[in-house]
Amino acid sequence: MERTFVLVKPDGVQRGLVGEVIARLERRGLRLVGAKFMAVSQELAETHYGIHKGKPFYDGLIKYITSAPVMAMVWEGNNAVAAVRQTMGATNPTEAAPGSVRHDFGLEIGRNITHASDSPENGIKETELWFKPEELVEWSRATESWIFE
Ligand code: RTP
Ligand code: MG
Repeated sequence: MERTFVLVKPDGVQRGLVGEVIARLERRGLRLVGAKFMAVSQELAETHYGIHKGKPFYDGLIKYITSAPVMAMVWEGNNAVAAVRQTMGATNPTEAAPGSVRHDFGLEIGRNITHASDSPENGIKETELWFKPEELVEWSRATESWIFE
């Protein structure tokens, strides 16, 4: 089953939105397989956002993501990557669909509350970057067949 890596970024943590984000993903039917509340090192931030190095917003992005704790998670489900991106909404909150997290709680692209992997390959890569294998839990819910066909 597809896995995706999700972060509640420092602004989401500071604003008390960790539970809100988890609740939305749980209600959607996705399965949580790993979670840790943590500070992000400079090195981890630079690796995670390596693709954006050299862009005008890069320094601000690294400062933002290392400025306070984050909630790092891995969620699983059929089409988990697309489903979570949809639940989070477009990168810029003022372009995010009504009802999405970034629409409902955000205003600016540099304070957009969450991160979610943008492809199944990056879901795997980012999960490996942020979590050790033993930190992930393989489990099954009694409701599985009521969520997945
Ligand atoms: P994320 O990686 O955080 O899930 O966001 P995303 O895929 O929707 O957007 P991405 O293009 O990967 O950008 C990563 C993060 O960088 C910040 N950003 N700022 N000021 C700007 O123009 C700008 N562009 C991007 C955002 O925090 C974005 O989530
Ligand atoms: Mg991205």
